[in-house]
Amino acid sequence: MTNLIAPHGGKLVDRIARGAERARLLEISRELPRVKLNERELSDLELIANGAFSPLTGFLTEKEYHSVVNDLRLPDGTVWALPITLAVDADTAGAARLDTLVALSDEQDAVVGVLTVQSIYKFDKADKARKVYGTEDANHPGVAYINARKPVFLGGPVTLLAERPPQFADVHRTPAQTRALFAERGWRTVAAFQTRNPIHRAHEYLTKVALEFTDGLLIHPLVGETKEGDIPADVRVEAYKVLLEKYYPAQRTVLSTFPAAMRYAGPREAIHHALARKNYGVSHFIVGRDHAGVGSYYGTYDAQRIFDRFTPAELGITPLKFEHTFWHKGLGEIVSEKTSPGPKEQHLVLSGTKVREILAAGGELPPEFTRPEVSAVLRRFYAGR
Ligand code: ADX
Repeated sequence: MTNLIAPHGGKLVDRIARGAERARLLEISRELPRVKLNERELSDLELIANGAFSPLTGFLTEKEYHSVVNDLRLPDGTVWALPITLAVDADTAGAARLDTLVALSDEQDAVVGVLTVQSIYKFDKADKARKVYGTEDANHPGVAYINARKPVFLGGPVTLLAERPPQFADVHRTPAQTRALFAERGWRTVAAFQTRNPIHRAHEYLTKVALEFTDGLLIHPLVGETKEGDIPADVRVEAYKVLLEKYYPAQRTVLSTFPAAMRYAGPREAIHHALARKNYGVSHFIVGRDHAGVGSYYGTYDAQRIFDRFTPAELGITPLKFEHTFWHKGLGEIVSEKTSPGPKEQHLVLSGTKVREILAAGGELPPEFTRPEVSAVLRRFYAGR
């Protein structure tokens, strides 16, 4: 027993086969029809199997899919915001039989798992795009992904037979492993920071304000698939390491990777990110401006407001909502729109586009915006491109 928050749905899912069971399923799988998973589906399989997506035990069935897309809940009422699905072409769907196993393989055709087919269903791409992403605009990366997807979903429980070697082995931890680490450190409350960007000073401020209220801090960068133009995960991980080494208390901070694919679903993805972190043992989740947003598809604080649709008990994890933060030139510190005395001319706000422009031209980011050690990592990356 630990004092940590319970996993979503009450129990940490474990769908990883081991020992004789694994050998038996691998043997059987040689004769089974194969479904090749893409990078995102492989990542989803891993996160279902290791419990990060508890209470999911597999890819969504038709009933679960409609319930999640329309009501943000699983059929039993448990809050769940993103449809985690497995798409196949019409031929594979035609050959699949209900209540039988199919083998799941990676891009090299090696078997990585099995799925018990409980549901074979078509889905409406435009309806999914509208409901999940709030737009049908094909320029939205999530909508573009849906449009390019195979037309039929297979749903049912999965078993993972081959764990992928993690991309960042030294900072990779499963939900069971972060829970064990938090327990070992005697933490009851932990704040997590999701990010797909380098940590600039405004982000650092959010994490440190959060840590004032919790026993520990989990810096939990998403390192799965991201869109063109986002800074690659290996560069970011290097930047997180140099930052943590100097600017964070080692005894109260953990850096660990979240090997999920980024969906850019804004509000819905904020809920998804929070529930997954609850499974990692996190009690408080930072939600700032335009969380998981892209372009101008979502309102600045939509991803905070969506939390108000659920009771605290239904979510379990507590959102820590932060307004837009930035350096105040007059005060010489980071403030937010909530705490700044003004005037706006004193605010140092650099857009992502501006930051990329400075770096691409070989320039220095202002130290008020980014710690010099982080800036150096980013400059090296841009110089080497
Ligand atoms: S995200 O896709 O992972 O949300 P990003 O890495 O930019 O993108 O943001 C990580 C977290 O920090 C999110 O909760 C986001 O809302 C928040 N955030 C980013 N920049 C700011 C800022 N200047 N002020 C307040 N919150 C911010």
